[in-house]
Amino acid sequence: MALRPYVVGNWKMNGLRASLAEARAIDRVAARYPQVDVGVAPPYTLVLALAEQAEHSAVGGQDCHAQAKGAFTGDVAAPMLADAGAGFVILGHSERRALHGESDALVQAKSTAALAAGLGVILCVGETEAERDAGEAIKVVAGQLKGSLVEGAAAAAKLAVAYEPVWAIGTGRVPSVEDVAAMHAAIRAELLAFYGDAGAAVRILYGGSVNAGNAVELLSVPEVGGALVGGASLTAESFGAIIHAA
Ligand code: G3P
Repeated sequence: MALRPYVVGNWKMNGLRASLAEARAIDRVAARYPQVDVGVAPPYTLVLALAEQAEHSAVGGQDCHAQAKGAFTGDVAAPMLADAGAGFVILGHSERRALHGESDALVQAKSTAALAAGLGVILCVGETEAERDAGEAIKVVAGQLKGSLVEGAAAAAKLAVAYEPVWAIGTGRVPSVEDVAAMHAAIRAELLAFYGDAGAAVRILYGGSVNAGNAVELLSVPEVGGALVGGASLTAESFGAIIHAA
């Protein structure tokens, strides 16, 4: 099945109002590639403003709470993101798992909340370097998927999975094409086992040091249906080159 390429920028904790101009430039690039789905996930403070100006790209959150509202100081709920114009949310990023102790079960609860709010979910999975060295990368990622996927064809229809090896994030290192292919094939097999036929339509993105120089090679690996991009998504120049590659 040919799936539409999906290229998403995760701005992490970067971006001030001055960055709105860069987001407009990214949106203009997206307009030139209608065959590619483009998204940008800015910090919460910019979601509303980006959503108001974006015409050709989707805007997303980088996390959400598992509850729809309540006494959770500092947190943001999925309905708030949707209300601000977000179309999707990134969940289970390794920085959330490592720095905020997020478990698979919590990521699953957040996904359920996001889906209830009508948001698409980009579910991040990935092994540490020690886990890869121990030969356990595929086992670890399969376990993350089993622990955090939300059941049902409706959930599958709103889901993308991002494979982000922890050791490749922000390091300039990327796995070999063979390792990416093996992992993405394993993720597809998990999705088919969990969702049946609906699992075939879930896009599997690669993330971790994607840049203008390596995007063509990474995006041509079988079952790589797009990219989740950190540092290189901060400018329209580098992010645009990755959109072009897709
Ligand atoms: O979510 C994207 C990310 O973790 C990859 O970051 O900077 O290595 O592209 P980067």
